[in-house]
Amino acid sequence: MKRVVFFALTVLLFSCKKESEDNFGQPKSEAIEKVSGQELFEGKGNCIACHQAEQKIIGPSMAEISKIYKDKNASIVSFLKEESQPIVDQSQYEVMKTNFAITKKMSDEELKALEDYIFAH
Ligand code: HEC
Repeated sequence: MKRVVFFALTVLLFSCKKESEDNFGQPKSEAIEKVSGQELFEGKGNCIACHQAEQKIIGPSMAEISKIYKDKNASIVSFLKEESQPIVDQSQYEVMKTNFAITKKMSDEELKALEDYIFAH
């Protein structure tokens, strides 16, 4: 529980900071017009409802997804377009599938931003 609160606070902190300080140490945020993976993950995509950074809740943690995708050199973008099969947890795939309605409407740039965000964990 403590972790969840801490996580929520961190997210809050970050979202406030972004308004006022653009370059705070993250080389990737140089391109200001670039879509933010974090914003998509927590906002429009609502991925945060089922995926946390380190802890499995409904879906696997971002850390777990990131590790498996990196190990297998797989593409999260393709998965979110429903062009590739699940490799993390086939048994729960039906639950994840409901999100393709949202992710299929996203641009390649947005999907790449989500992938980068997950890979940062
Ligand atoms: C309703 C809960 C829920 C939401 C919301 C959700 N997911 Fe998932 N996700 C899951 C579950 C459950 C799994 C495990 C099944 C699986 O691996 O396909 C999963 C798996 C994944 C995987 C691993 C797929 C694989 O290869 O097995 C990725 C990547 C992923 N989600 C990304 C996202 C992104 C990005 C969003 C937001 C657009 C999102 N998820 C929103 C429940 C959710």
